[in-house]
Amino acid sequence: MSSTVPQYRIAPSILSADFARLGDEVKNVIAAGADWIHFDVMDNHYVPNLTFGPMICQALKPHAKKPDGTPVPIDVHLMIQPVDALAGAFIDAGADLVSFHPDASTHVHRSVQAIKAKGAKAGLTFNPGASLDVLDWLIDDIDLILIMSVNPGFGGQSFIDSALRKIEDARRRIEASGKDIRLEVDGGIKVDNIRRVADAGADTFVAGSAIFGKPDYKSVIDQMRAALK
Ligand code: DX5
Ligand code: ZN
Repeated sequence: MSSTVPQYRIAPSILSADFARLGDEVKNVIAAGADWIHFDVMDNHYVPNLTFGPMICQALKPHAKKPDGTPVPIDVHLMIQPVDALAGAFIDAGADLVSFHPDASTHVHRSVQAIKAKGAKAGLTFNPGASLDVLDWLIDDIDLILIMSVNPGFGGQSFIDSALRKIEDARRRIEASGKDIRLEVDGGIKVDNIRRVADAGADTFVAGSAIFGKPDYKSVIDQMRAALK
């Protein structure tokens, strides 16, 4: 771990929000303390589920701000294949960060370049069974590493413990690169395991069912921050 105190970020996944009230859900979870809005895009091809496209991102963009008007980043997690065409469409729709799975792109470096050329931050996402080897060649080009601690496709699954070793490995690679790269973890994050995940080296935490599954979003986010103290 770095000697500096990490700036932790909590990124609620609206996959577990009430889809009939998405704008209000985004506003409410930001008022409750969300740092980023995590936006899970599924295509029923790369993963066995189907969620939302760029039009929904565009509709939510005006709601992605704090009560004082400060923008809250929209963190788009693409679980789609192919990657490139829709990645650009999401950036046009207001995505601030776009991450994709390397195994879903034929030309991973080209996809990263395309995301950055359009002005968004680029992330690579790693499934529980995926190796981090592609980082040997791409770490200097990315802004975010997203480690999956469940298999992608559904909210509400249990945290897979081997993700902790992968987070440690990713943290070592970030330290060695000397670059400012966020290390985000996605899947099964709860109040009672977030500290362990942070201790492994993560600085950004996606949480869907843990937050949207409870009536009081602020109380969950406050408890997560307390656990991270
Ligand atoms: C799963 C998604 C996650 C999901 C996490 O494919 O990428 O972002 O919303 O949900 P929880 O926090 O319920 O595991
Ligand atoms: Zn996700």
